[in-house]
Amino acid sequence: MKKVITFGTFDVFHVGHINILERARAMGDYLIVGVSSDELNFSKKNRYPIYNEADRVKIISAMRFVDEVFIEESLDLKLEYINKHNATILVMGDDWKGRFDWVKPACEVLYLPRTPSISTTEIIEIVKSI
Ligand code: CTP
Repeated sequence: MKKVITFGTFDVFHVGHINILERARAMGDYLIVGVSSDELNFSKKNRYPIYNEADRVKIISAMRFVDEVFIEESLDLKLEYINKHNATILVMGDDWKGRFDWVKPACEVLYLPRTPSISTTEIIEIVKSI
């Protein structure tokens, strides 16, 4: 069985998230999603996500093309997560292009084109301005 793994915050869930998950699942037989923890987001962006990690995990788990979900506590543990879940392909949006090539001996890495014109940050900005 070909296991695919992907990572992300998936805050304020939108169609770009659906598209990457759907395409990631189509690359194999089983899709594992690492949802970044609230603390990990705070350390990266200096703000907490709008939806907390439990709610983000619940939303991602409800997708029919997602088989397994866990909370990603640290960016440095990518390889540990890949090995623990026996993933053979890591899929990310191409905003991450090249950033995870270092896991390549252990796992194939694929960067898929982002869905144009939508992001969580942009949605938050639009809502703020209304
Ligand atoms: N993604 C995508 N197309 C978009 C937005 C996100 O393919 N329009 C992908 C990202 O490349 C990543 C995954 O969805 O692989 C999770 O991205 P995340 O950072 O949670 O979403 P963004 O909308 O990019 O959030 P932000 O604006 O906070 O960076």
